[in-house]
Amino acid sequence: MSRVHLPVLGALLQAPSGLPGSVPADPLLDAFARRIRYLRVSVTDRCNYRCSYCMPEDLGDQLTFASRSTVLTFEEITRLVTVFAGLGVRKIRLTGGEPTVRKGIVDLVGRIAAVPGIEQVVMTTNGHLLDELAEPLRTAGLAAVNVSIDTLDPDKFHTLTSRGDLARVMRGIDAAVAAGLRVKTNAVALRGVNDGELLALCEYAWSRGAVPRFIEHMPMSEGQLYATDAELSSAQIRAALEAVLGPLTAGERPGADPGPARHWRDRDGREVGIISAMTDHFCDDCNRLRLTATGALHACLGHDDAVSLRDVVRGGGSDDDVIRAIAASVTGKRAGHVFERTGGGGPQKHMIAIGG
Ligand code: 5AD
Ligand code: SF4
Repeated sequence: MSRVHLPVLGALLQAPSGLPGSVPADPLLDAFARRIRYLRVSVTDRCNYRCSYCMPEDLGDQLTFASRSTVLTFEEITRLVTVFAGLGVRKIRLTGGEPTVRKGIVDLVGRIAAVPGIEQVVMTTNGHLLDELAEPLRTAGLAAVNVSIDTLDPDKFHTLTSRGDLARVMRGIDAAVAAGLRVKTNAVALRGVNDGELLALCEYAWSRGAVPRFIEHMPMSEGQLYATDAELSSAQIRAALEAVLGPLTAGERPGADPGPARHWRDRDGREVGIISAMTDHFCDDCNRLRLTATGALHACLGHDDAVSLRDVVRGGGSDDDVIRAIAASVTGKRAGHVFERTGGGGPQKHMIAIGG
């Protein structure tokens, strides 16, 4: 936690702060007729864990963090969320790094939940602090948590996260369920790491009233640590699950958020999600934008382009200036992503900075 620098953000496009010109009629409709309704907000790039596929301990000096003054304040985040809500954003997901290590996170949830137009505030967390925070977060207006849990073996969990405590995360999940939060579990599926535990992870989640989900490993800048042959495609994950659960049928819930998660049901109706970040192009109905802790708006996880909303806000920009900057980002939203393992064509940003 002592190294303090800006995360790599790649090409930071110039935000059109203060430029004359009218506000676009529909700033959240992109060039491919996709409507943005969902904003992921990273509230810190720091984390109390060091998952090997995300921010491995041995990255050493390459792993750098944003200094406090560059991170958006709660007032700045709330103002931006208010502008986004005015444009039609209805759902906010708080991410990190690890969002619960941001001081005052309960207060921030309350502020965001109170923004007119925001219907759902949810969070992705490693669960380490949920035991204490689930109840206050729920009271502040949080509706759901996605908790990362890649293995049910305490030693393996500790190794994979470099410092994690499985029992504590499990207590956190129980506290979240008890507090009335909807819970999903996330596991990055990796051969030789947790491919023997897919069923056990499902059963664990189901036993808690949670929905288990498996994520294809994404070769972000640091995730390239894992060899290609460790990666499980969503088709392979599904096949492995079907080998133990029997045939799975498409179980999309009506009105479910369009996104990379495909939901399946086993013959007993139990639900499992598989997230095809790599092999299946969910980009066609992507409805999301991502705001980093330092106020960079990324229209696409798979590209490094960003517009600095922090510069607009700190430059004294009006809400219309913010809207023009958002529109510039949305207009530039790509048709789809390119993740490349070699050759430098893929995104160079860190998962920790973008919040997954
Ligand atoms: N590939 C796939 N998933 C990842 N996550 C973090 N890094 C990667 C990666 N390289 C997951 C975490 C968490 C979610 C936010 O993203 O496990 O559940
Ligand atoms: Fe932290 Fe989540 Fe990254 Fe693990 S995956 S190091 S818990 S941000």
